Amino acid sequence: MQQTRMKVNLSGMPLTSLVTLYSRAKISKEHGSLFNDAKAVELVEQIDFYFSLLEKSGADFTFFANAARAMQLDNKVKAYIKEHPRASVVNLGAGFETEFFRVDNGTVRWYDLDLPELIEVRKQLLPETDRLTCIAKSFLDPSWCQEINTENGVLIIAGGLFRYFGEAEVRQFFSLLADRFPGCEIVFEAESKSSIDVDGSCGAYGAGWNDDEPEKRDAMQAEYMKAFENAWKMFFPQAQKDMMIGALTTSTRPRGTEWDDFKTWWDQLGAQEKSKAMSDFFFGFTCGCPLEDASEMTAWDDRITVVDQFPLFRNIPRGPSMSKSTRQFMDYTDEKGRIKIVHVRT
Ligand SMILES: C[S@@+](CC[C@H](N)C(=O)[O-])C[C@H]1O[C@@H](n2cnc3c(N)ncnc32)[C@H](O)[C@@H]1O
Repeated sequence: MQQTRMKVNLSGMPLTSLVTLYSRAKISKEHGSLFNDAKAVELVEQIDFYFSLLEKSGADFTFFANAARAMQLDNKVKAYIKEHPRASVVNLGAGFETEFFRVDNGTVRWYDLDLPELIEVRKQLLPETDRLTCIAKSFLDPSWCQEINTENGVLIIAGGLFRYFGEAEVRQFFSLLADRFPGCEIVFEAESKSSIDVDGSCGAYGAGWNDDEPEKRDAMQAEYMKAFENAWKMFFPQAQKDMMIGALTTSTRPRGTEWDDFKTWWDQLGAQEKSKAMSDFFFGFTCGCPLEDASEMTAWDDRITVVDQFPLFRNIPRGPSMSKSTRQFMDYTDEKGRIKIVHVRT
């Protein structure tokens, strides 16, 4: 008998967690030897959402980037709870992350924190247990700190969260952590400033748009445009198209919001204008707190020390099952230091 899927009505930022969930499920299904998130696969089957459109509207390397972040955070959590088996792990902006199920050692205390509308849905799909608690609050609301058991060490992880906030908010947040959880460790991903300054492509997914390596740029651009066309035609609501066109800083804009209008305009742009447009469209607004080097954070608050930082795709095998543009994206992103995993202590 077919199971009834759960309709999920989310919009805005909480919606982005369905994209990362789908990425983990997809990479698990297609590259199981690399990453295996059985719970994510299960959730995608339980949720009634237009995942098939996501499939058509995402480029492979974006799915990989989301899964790679999960892999690196998993490694960090496993190492921490090996040393502190009864620690508290707090996942900020948890969305539909299923990390607890990938790393649980049987004794860790786990907290998944996200906005109330997201947590309401999450709890129905992933019920709380004695060691797995949901917190329905913004991470910027300091009251969540009181809910954490601090007896056996605290590790905080945040994947795909800080990028949506400005540096001032993130700085203040780290000072809050230093006040409330002295000695706690925090692991998250950060994008580099130079990736924004140099080619205007905002690090993460713009990697490879540089003109100095046209072959890589063209391969990724082609993959992205294919995905983007599908998204534009099937997935983006009109309001989003209006917003994206409204955000353009290029000297010209499409005449309308039909795909043909977009394509005609796009084809006339030079490489630099294309880079600029991509940045404006996709990620210009999601790169709020870039870091060239994690050591910059020590100037935010002298209680912060850097434990580790490394490129997003470090030690992730470039398997033959990956497309050429995905492998190029991974190499390019790491070579340029575009996205890194940062591990600090307060
Ligand atoms: C890109 S998703 C990442 C989800 C998850 N970390 C993952 O990797 O699958 C961003 C998440 O941040 C959450 N979020 C946005 N603003 C937040 C806030 N102020 N406090 C807590 N969570 C927030 C969203 O609801 C969403 O679930």
